[in-house]
Order: sequence, then C-alpha cells, then structure tokens
Amino acid sequence: MRKFFKKMLTAAITAGCLIMPVSSQVEAAVERTPVTVTNARWYPLYHIAPYAGWANDPNGFCVYKGEYHFFYQHYPYDTKWGPMHWGHVKSKDLVHWEHLPVALEPNSIYDASGNGGGCFSGSALEKDGKLYLMYTGHVDLPVLTPEGVDRIESQNIAISDDGITFEKYAGNPVLYAPSNLGNIHGGDFRDPKMWKHGDTYYVVIGSKNKAGDRAQMLLFESKDMLDWKFKNIMAYSQGNEGTMWECPNFAEIDGQEAIIMSPIGMKPEGKKYLNFFQAGYMIGKLNYDTGVFTHGKFDTLDYGFDFYAPQITQTPDGRCILIGWLDMWDPPTGNIFSEYTDGWSCMMTVPRELHIKNGKIISVPVPELESLRIAEKSYRNLNISKKTKLDGVRGETGELLATIDTSLANGFSIELRSGGSEKTVLSYDKSSGLLKLNRDKAGGNVTGEREVKISGNKINLQIFLDRSSIEIFVNGGEAVMSTRVYPKTTSQDIIFIPNGGTVNLENITFYTLGEGIPQPVIK
Ligand code: FRU
Repeated sequence: MRKFFKKMLTAAITAGCLIMPVSSQVEAAVERTPVTVTNARWYPLYHIAPYAGWANDPNGFCVYKGEYHFFYQHYPYDTKWGPMHWGHVKSKDLVHWEHLPVALEPNSIYDASGNGGGCFSGSALEKDGKLYLMYTGHVDLPVLTPEGVDRIESQNIAISDDGITFEKYAGNPVLYAPSNLGNIHGGDFRDPKMWKHGDTYYVVIGSKNKAGDRAQMLLFESKDMLDWKFKNIMAYSQGNEGTMWECPNFAEIDGQEAIIMSPIGMKPEGKKYLNFFQAGYMIGKLNYDTGVFTHGKFDTLDYGFDFYAPQITQTPDGRCILIGWLDMWDPPTGNIFSEYTDGWSCMMTVPRELHIKNGKIISVPVPELESLRIAEKSYRNLNISKKTKLDGVRGETGELLATIDTSLANGFSIELRSGGSEKTVLSYDKSSGLLKLNRDKAGGNVTGEREVKISGNKINLQIFLDRSSIEIFVNGGEAVMSTRVYPKTTSQDIIFIPNGGTVNLENITFYTLGEGIPQPVIK
C-alpha cells in the first residue's frame, strides 16, 4: 500500500500537472501577500476568528502545558477556501485568545497540490512534553485510479517542543486508506482525531465504503503515535445517517461515551436536517478489544443554520468541551460569506460544555465565559401585553438571559439585532411547542427559517450576540440554535413581543461583554 501511494505520487509528478518541487512551493508561498482585515463591522469581539483570511474546521483543540490550543483550517492569502494551512490561537481560560503564527503550511509532497490540496483537518495530543499534530495531507490526482479514486488522503504527523513551531515528521505519511482490509474507500480518508486510553493511542478517521453510499469511522491504534495499526470499522451509517462522516470525534462525557461526526449526504426529514451538511452524535460504548462502537441513533447537536465540523477536547478536570465552525458549506453560492469583502471569512462558536441528560447530549456555554461580563442590566417579573423594549437591553454584542412564562399567552417573539427593516426573529408557539429562528431580514446574503420542538409554558434562554453571530441556548442546553447574521452596526435593539395574551418576563438580564479575541487594526 505504501508503495502504491509513492507510485501514485510519482506518477502524478511525472504527469507534470500536479506537484511543484517542495522548494519552489515554499518560494511561491513567500511571494504571495496575506490578506488583512479592511472592515471590522462584522468581526467578532469574543469568538475565535482568523486574524485575517479564511477559516473553516476547528483542528487540534487540546490542552498543552496548561494552556488551551486551538487550530483551524486556514487560507491566509484570500477570503475564500484555498490550499489549507493551520491557523493557531491559544488561551489560558478558553475565553481570552492570542493569535500565534500559522502552524502548518502545505509544502510537502503529501500535502501540496495546486489549488485543491493542503493540510486538511486533524487533531493534537501531548506526548512526553511534546505536542503532536496528526492531520490529513490531501493531494488531488491528475488521473483516476483503476478504483475511480481522484485523490490521495494520507495522515501525517507534525511535532513541536514549544507548542508554537511544528516540524513535520520525516516518516510521513504515517497512515493511508487500508482499502485492502475491507469495504473501505481508497480516497475519502480524512480528519484524524486522536486520544489516549491506558497506554495506547487511538485515532478515528472519517471514511466511507467503496460504493460511496455508507459513511464509516475507522479506528487505528498505536503505542507511539507514529506506527499505527488498523483495528476495525468502529461505526457506520444506517438509513439516513449520511454517506461520508467528516471530522469524527470520540468523546467521554459524564462517564459515558459518544461519537460526534459531520455527515455529508443526509436528506431533510420534515423541517430537520435542512442545512447542506449536518453535525451530530451517537451515544454508545467502545469495545477496545474488537474496536467496535455499539450505539444508538444519530441526533443533531445544533438546530440552527451554521454549525459544522465540531471538535472536542477533554480537560484535565474531566469535562468534554466542544467548539464548532459557526458557518456552513454552501456549494451553490460558492461558499462565499458576507464578510468576504472585509478581508476575513468565517468564525467559531463559543466553547460549549457537553453533558448527557435523558439519553441526549446537551450543550451549555462554558462557565468561563462569565468572565467576559463587564456590565449588567436586570429586570424581574414584568408582565407585557405589547411590544416592549427595555432600557439597557440592546447591543451588537452581549449576552441575554431570559426566562419567559407564557402561561397566560399563546407564545412570544424576540427580535434581535433589530433596527430599520432589519431583525432576526426568535419565536415560540406554545400550542405546537415550536421554537423558530427566522433570518430573512438578518442582513447580508443569509435567509431562511429553522425550528426545534421544545415544550412547556416557561422557556429559558441564554443568547450570545457577537456582531455577526447569534447562538441561542434553550432550557439549559436542551436545544441550541446558531446562525450568522449581517445587520448594520446600528441595528442593536432587542424587542419582546407577546403573542395572544400577556407574557411574564420573569427574568431579563443583559450583560455587556468585553474583548476575547484581539481586534483587527484597520489601516
Ligand atoms: C470539513 C472538511 C474536512 C476537510 C476540511 C478541508 O469541513 O471538508 O473533511 O479536512 O474540511 O478544509
């Protein structure tokens, strides 16, 4: 297999249309000019975003020498997806982040191929005081293999002594698709997520079957993180659970286990799964002897518009924390995001702590985020029977806590980032139990409506607003809805609207939040 890989790469180079010599690629990279942020109107105040340029999937989320490190798929030279690099930030508290130099560049034979390749997604783990990254090197092939495969996706290691500068391992690639060991596709084989159990290292990798109609997660094991052995197909999709699982994770949550994945190819079920791709989980148990994960059904992790490729890290104090990409692939529009003319594209969610309750994963914002609160305005027990704005409850950024009792009404709406004709509307209808998020008037190039069924008279909301994003946590994490929005900076009102009676605003608290990510300097 290794020989086949080398042969394919050599054939590609000989064909003359694939790979430049490594040295000239490095020179080419130096000649290009990284983009800079030219307008900060939608740039987040406290969410992770690239210092400039493009960002997609979270990568390498880990704790190293007592600090959180977080990497992301990054293209520094444009605000569109391009040959993938790894951007890098770190933080002592999951809240205040510092930008670090780009950690990985696509400049090796196994990760560079013109416009289609790069250092694709992966993960990080500490070993003997060093930080190991494992990432997918993606190389497009100029011709299809006899199996009909158009790419080589191999797994590669980069190692750092200081958590800042990474050196690619001389023995790369360390893993390639074991298509001779079962019904495994030879091309799609990416996004390794490592963890340690006992004295053994494990990695799950996203894949599919040869026919391309079944997603699967492959499990490998190693004693040193360099020499890996295939263990088994750890889990695979059934029914409408997707045809390829990108960005898989294995998670330990409250003493239980779950796999988290980002399926391609799921079809809408009523008003569920309307996004182009999905992100969700299955709770179960891994048998480390057989390498098989027995599990329940797929469920989604976020009911909004923009949430993909989440990655978890396990913290020393036993928590499981997740950050997702707060955007969504949209090939029909060319994956162009409204901020793309401002010198940057895409951002991450706030860190979310995962728990398991009644057989479901719930996500809540990490409590560390409370350290961003710098001013507070609170109201208690207000009965409203018409549209109401509350003094001091407004902003283009901020955190809103709301406990709303609809015992004497049919429901309510809250207009967020409202001003002129702009608004993003969250509405609850008690009789159907549906909570809906509508962004038809949210600005930029976004539209549409998403919904989730909840129930009860009293609804609890925790809402994070950040210039071009809204994340809504419902009833202590029972449901989450995330979306990008692109209103004018002046559209800052929050309006409470009762529906069919009097609504009791039992608690409304609005926090002004401070800075969590360095703000771009506009020249
Ligand atoms: C998911 C994904 C990954 C891949 C990366 C490339 O969003 O397609 O599977 O590694 O993006 O940027």
